[in-house]
Amino acid sequence: MTSRLIASAIHSTVKLNDGVVMPLFGLGVYQVENNCADLVAAAIDTGYKLIDTAEFYHNEEGVGSGLKQSGKKREDIFIVSKWFPSAEGAKGALKALDHCLKGLQSNYVDLYLLHAPQGGHCAEAYRALLDAKKQGKIRSLGVSNFGVSHLEALAKLGLDKPSVNQIELHPWQQKNDIVKYCREHDITVMGYSPLAKGHKVQDKTVGEIAKKLSKTPAQVLIRWSVQHGFITIPKTSQASRLQSNADVFDWSIPEEDMKTLNALGEKPWSCTWDPTNNSLKEAGLQ
Ligand SMILES: NC(=O)c1ccc[n+]([C@@H]2O[C@H](COP(=O)([O-])OP(=O)(O)OC[C@H]3O[C@@H](n4cnc5c(N)ncnc54)[C@H](OP(=O)(O)O)[C@@H]3O)[C@@H](O)[C@H]2O)c1
Repeated sequence: MTSRLIASAIHSTVKLNDGVVMPLFGLGVYQVENNCADLVAAAIDTGYKLIDTAEFYHNEEGVGSGLKQSGKKREDIFIVSKWFPSAEGAKGALKALDHCLKGLQSNYVDLYLLHAPQGGHCAEAYRALLDAKKQGKIRSLGVSNFGVSHLEALAKLGLDKPSVNQIELHPWQQKNDIVKYCREHDITVMGYSPLAKGHKVQDKTVGEIAKKLSKTPAQVLIRWSVQHGFITIPKTSQASRLQSNADVFDWSIPEEDMKTLNALGEKPWSCTWDPTNNSLKEAGLQ
């Protein structure tokens, strides 16, 4: 854990390499459909400060409406969105960004991510988004699903380093090489799918630790991410789960149990896709 990460409360923050201050905990809204605005408003009411959306989730508008509904000021909530780089390159990136801002009903997004190293034109899109950052449409620019080779390629091209790399992280998918590279190069690590998409809340090892600590398995998994110093964004579409998923800051997993959870990564398993090994050609980062 770096010294800049202090995960002691739902409002804990990290300072990114461009000086932007970002919450360490939030709500992911992938596959949140009809109730997105109400859910986002309920999350904000519960104390969530960060919402993670994407063009691909088709709910940037729901996030914007939820923020309005919450009555909070725009600057009090940190919104992350992302876009899949495509053959459209820079033009596609700027079109997606405009669509995002329209949906959010905002003239800026706090953190914008290249969703994955794919589409053949990442370098070109990244350059265009750096310009959009200069114009104030993006506060911070990052990437998602970038492996070490993609991060090295961005550096080789002389482009500003991303502030964040968002990758799949839970005990069964620890991506130690990427985490190590990011930490050595001051790129903040943001984990997704902390509950392994719900597939592991019934896991025996997690269940035993949860029972011992009088917590739920979901809380143990979310706390594992927090304790590793990863920004984490558990998704729920059920407002009734928002509070308990956030109740992971006034207790900790003892070291011996962290070791047991960490050992689950000896047999890596992914709950979703893994573009971190895409070729540089596929990414457009040559
Ligand atoms: N950059 C990327 O490529 C990428 C990829 C995947 C995800 N993400 C981001 O990361 C966020 C989180 O990841 P994710 O949505 O894949 O999965 P996740 O957060 O690991 O798990 C979500 C699943 O867990 C269930 N769940 C939530 N709270 C629970 C609880 N307390 N007890 C039992 N089950 C619970 C949810 O069901 P209910 O909804 O019914 O509560 C849902 O089925 C996404 O929403 C998205 O914002 C990014």
